[in-house]
Amino acid sequence: MLSDTPIDDPILHNAWHVVALADDVKVNQPLQVHLLGNAIALWRTDEKIIACQDRCPHRGVSLSMGWVDGNKAIVCPYHAMSFDADGRCTRIPADLKITCFPQTANIRTYQVKEKYGFVWVALGEPEQNIPTFAEWEQRNAIAFQCGPYFINASAPRVVENFVDIAHFPFTHRGLLGDPEFPEVPNYTLAVDADGISASDIHFHQPNPEGTGEAKSVSYVYKIVRPLIACFRKGDDIRYFSIFLTVTPVAETRSIAWLGVVRNYAPETSNDELRRFQDEVMAQDIPMVESQRPQKLPLNLQQEFHFPCDKMSIAYRKWLKQINLQFGTC
Ligand code: FES
Ligand SMILES: [Fe+2]
Repeated sequence: MLSDTPIDDPILHNAWHVVALADDVKVNQPLQVHLLGNAIALWRTDEKIIACQDRCPHRGVSLSMGWVDGNKAIVCPYHAMSFDADGRCTRIPADLKITCFPQTANIRTYQVKEKYGFVWVALGEPEQNIPTFAEWEQRNAIAFQCGPYFINASAPRVVENFVDIAHFPFTHRGLLGDPEFPEVPNYTLAVDADGISASDIHFHQPNPEGTGEAKSVSYVYKIVRPLIACFRKGDDIRYFSIFLTVTPVAETRSIAWLGVVRNYAPETSNDELRRFQDEVMAQDIPMVESQRPQKLPLNLQQEFHFPCDKMSIAYRKWLKQINLQFGTC
């Protein structure tokens, strides 16, 4: 069972988070999601998605178990109170004489957007926009989504795993790396107001294009928000790029999602590529779930580091600097 105790981290409270695949929010079918200890009901009208508290103010029943009335209200399944897209109560069937509803009959709604095939929700006032991923705007971009991947680990541990290359030859042996080529050459690290980037990363991969031909691949990695990172393989002419976004469900419960985009191989099916990402993630999850402490230690003395961990170290320093409390220790 998930605790319904909201987690009060100001940084994550005032930020956009992916909570669902946009296609999973269907007309007339409310969907329950969880974010930072809050249960949220998503429902869709013809024009937009609405995110509201998933608890009826009458007797606390889950509104996502209800239905959508006439494209304009979510209806509680228990006694059928209705709430419009702004969270205002519009109907109480047990007492139809009431037409002026008190504030206490209303529910809370949240800011919500659809972007990159995902539903993004902000509980508070987001201080930054949803990140822009330039590759998605390119003319020949072929994009798809992966996830949800449910992980019993803290969200910062999941992000750090995503930017860690040194595990490829062992955790992803034969897929992303080869134990005969375990070394991570030095790379360029930059930290600025936009986050952290690591460029000029060259790494041996056994089958980077699916042709069976091993070669050195060049990567650029970026951490653009506390719980959002991305990489790009290749160059401007031919690229393969993934962004990772992690839903902070609870301090040690996360949901990872991937936005994947490439500008080549249109004949390769997205389902096939998604299966590959599923396989990679299935190898990562037991590693990350076994990590102790579960929260990411921001005191650098607490864990041993390799020279090639400098991006992870920069991430931990950055989280400490912005004072992220959630999922860290
Ligand atoms: S519990 Fe929702 S209307 Fe009664
Ligand atoms: Fe991995």
